[in-house]
Amino acid sequence: MMLLNPGPVNVSDRVRKALTLPDMCHREAECDELIQNIQQKLLKAFVPGAESEYVAILLTGSGTAAVEASILSSVPIGKRVFVVNNGMYGQRMSDIVASQRLGVPELKFDWDTPADPEKIRTALKHHPEVSTLAIVHHETTVGLVNPVNEIAKIADDLNRVCVVDSVSGLGGEPIEVAGSHMYVVAGTAGKCIQGFPGVSFVLIRKGFIERAVKFPKRSMYLNLANYYVAMEQGRLPYTPAVQVCAAFDEALNELLEEGVDNRIQRYASCAALIRDGLGALGMKMFLPAERQSNSLTTFYLPEGLAYQDLHDRLKERGFIIYAGQGHLSEKIFRVANMGALKQEDFESFVKAFKEIV
Ligand SMILES: Cc1ncc(COP(=O)(O)O)c(C=O)c1O
Repeated sequence: MMLLNPGPVNVSDRVRKALTLPDMCHREAECDELIQNIQQKLLKAFVPGAESEYVAILLTGSGTAAVEASILSSVPIGKRVFVVNNGMYGQRMSDIVASQRLGVPELKFDWDTPADPEKIRTALKHHPEVSTLAIVHHETTVGLVNPVNEIAKIADDLNRVCVVDSVSGLGGEPIEVAGSHMYVVAGTAGKCIQGFPGVSFVLIRKGFIERAVKFPKRSMYLNLANYYVAMEQGRLPYTPAVQVCAAFDEALNELLEEGVDNRIQRYASCAALIRDGLGALGMKMFLPAERQSNSLTTFYLPEGLAYQDLHDRLKERGFIIYAGQGHLSEKIFRVANMGALKQEDFESFVKAFKEIV
């Protein structure tokens, strides 16, 4: 089955085989080594040249665990989080903050509109109680990319900490984590890094996590300072999903061999194939070309064809597409191109789509 949903993704045979490593106790040296290898590879891939300034904290949990941990661990006492909300995942960040009964100053943009850096600058100036700016990099709701590099620099200039949800961005979209002074970036194994779901991670600036150790603990399991303190003693505090981590390590080997820039280019070419192929069949895209990500395309549903029908007919032919969310659920469908898939796979998809419409 070809997974054209935005994660979990198809993985390579090499990554699948890594799941079957010999049984391992998480309190033994070989597991410590596996975790440390993953951490080093994450830093090499996403903060090249600034590895000594960041730490990578590994969590057992899906992408939301990494996002929730990032937010809950980054707020000093008496301070607030400002959320930029232009999709379901921005909304989720707001919900996470609200779950703490913290007021949520928010700046909303339409789902087809990238966050405006200057509006964010003005809003931050009006909110002195805000220490932390939370924003999604790639809004998977419709495949919209927010200009997080520019926004993180603005936050840093105004002495605020930028927390980025790059769960569906890292490996698929360019991002300057260290260069833009992003303090906290959440990611996951099971999307553009092409591992399995179940482990996620946070890249965090060392100086910041050292300060965050003194922040109020708003969660026990999802407190990044707890992980950092344990990591300094060479261990993870809780039992990791060992086998999923082994596959993640192999997925990171593949990513580093391919090169992050080449992975991004490959995704861009596959997205172009889908857009050209379906465009030639008369399908209309929800976003203008310049706002679209490299790994997901949102199309309007063809006239007279309901999503479930389209989904089921494609599934019969071996392809999984993804429904729209919220107010767009009856109007659109999404096609992702994350994962270990080849150009030929997308050509077959376009062919199957043509048969149906
Ligand atoms: C941008 C973004 N953030 C967070 C998540 C949540 O990840 P998970 O479903 O792995 O918890 C997703 C999932 O698609 C996402 O696309």
